[in-house]
Amino acid sequence: MIVYASRTGNVQSLVDSLGLEAKNISEADGIGEDYILFTYTDGAGDIPYEVDDFLAKNSSHLKGVVASGDYAYGDDNFCASGDKIAEMYGVPCLYKVENSGTDEDIAKLLDILK
Ligand SMILES: Cc1cc2nc3c(=O)[nH]c(=O)nc-3n(C[C@H](O)[C@H](O)[C@H](O)COP(=O)(O)O)c2cc1C
Repeated sequence: MIVYASRTGNVQSLVDSLGLEAKNISEADGIGEDYILFTYTDGAGDIPYEVDDFLAKNSSHLKGVVASGDYAYGDDNFCASGDKIAEMYGVPCLYKVENSGTDEDIAKLLDILK
């Protein structure tokens, strides 16, 4: 199961391209099964507020994180939300992708998620 947060559509588009079972974070409160979180990056390498709030209540089934970002925010901030979530919750940051990703990113992600 994928749980995803998307503000402007990039993560939504990436998740749609994978063709796997997925729930928007706004509909996933109380999730009782293992999931991989897909999130965008906000601020300067920050975890989005909606993701922080969700994880505070729903981290017990979190198995890994995939982060989307943009190199325009600097190398240190690129997809740093993924690193922060990985550290806070002791799960792997499985992949970092720029915006909605390329065909190559999608193929690699499908491989990882298998
Ligand atoms: C206000 C704002 C701040 C951002 N800060 C970062 C950042 O620090 N690091 C990063 O890698 N990307 C950053 N981004 C880029 C987004 O995380 C990236 O475009 C992502 O694909 C957006 O996903 P979404 O369209 O699903 O919301 C930022 C974007 C916005 C609008």
